[in-house]
Amino acid sequence: MNRSPRHLLNLADLGADGLRAVLHHAHSRKAGRRGLPNGMADADAPLAGHMLASIFEKPSTRTRLSFEVAMRQLGGSAMTLSAGDMQLGRGETVEDTARVLSGFVDAVMIRANRHADVEAFARAATVPVLNGLTDQSHPCQLVADLLTAEERLGRPVAGTRWAWLGDGNNVCNSLVEAAGLLGFSLHIAGPAGYAPDSGFVASARARGGNISIDHDAGAAVADADVVVTDTWVSMGQTGTEDRLRAMQPYQVNPMLMAAAAPHALFLHCLPAHRGEEVTDSVMDGPQSAVWDEAHNRVHAQKALLLWALGKLG
Ligand code: CP
Ligand code: NVA
Repeated sequence: MNRSPRHLLNLADLGADGLRAVLHHAHSRKAGRRGLPNGMADADAPLAGHMLASIFEKPSTRTRLSFEVAMRQLGGSAMTLSAGDMQLGRGETVEDTARVLSGFVDAVMIRANRHADVEAFARAATVPVLNGLTDQSHPCQLVADLLTAEERLGRPVAGTRWAWLGDGNNVCNSLVEAAGLLGFSLHIAGPAGYAPDSGFVASARARGGNISIDHDAGAAVADADVVVTDTWVSMGQTGTEDRLRAMQPYQVNPMLMAAAAPHALFLHCLPAHRGEEVTDSVMDGPQSAVWDEAHNRVHAQKALLLWALGKLG
């Protein structure tokens, strides 16, 4: 009997229990291969014989590498496709592409301009589809962020206090979802007109998430355990002077970090625009966890792939 595939289009697809299970698995699988060379498979090679195709409509360093390394470490294999080099780039429909790829590989990861295209791909696919960033969200990134915060804080994120500074973008939307699912408080400060998606905020609040959105950077970071930001101009957006000027008060600099809790860590999904949303001193300072965050993408991806392929229960 054919069962419908498990897709990860947003963190809500995991649910609270699923997200906790993914995090737990990522922590233990990471610990279980400590000391092994990066290219060596995990001892249990749970995805032996499985193949992932990744499709990119926009550039990527971390997402591309981490999915390829994740598949290799799980005992499977991966191929990376640029949408512009596929017939997709000259008009073959998303749905027809999904039907064809579903017969070649066991799972598909897509980075797309429009979230609606990933939804359409998933509806037509008969294998799991994972969202590797859209204009709406970046769920895989958030799993790595949560993993990194739990490692650095030495405790589950439930009950912690997070601050987001700047643009309420795709990464911010997924952080809002995570706050609702796992129960941590999230204080967002940015200029008027740059708030996260109101639907994501309403869903997170409906789950009991404590989420505030205003324009006061200092109030947002006060006593925060985790301070997060991202580029002021995401891929596909235009960095107008007005936009950049409006974002200036939300730069994460040493003065702002000083208002957070003394043990606070700094996260950024990268790539960073040093001197814009974050200063060199914060990026390279002792509170920065951005390199662990980038490297944890592999461990997050592995747990997500196993979830999607029904190997996590
Ligand atoms: N953080 C992130 O998704 O990076 P890439 O754009 O390099 O994949
Ligand atoms: N918000 C950024 C994240 C890049 C990983 C963008 O969409 O470009």
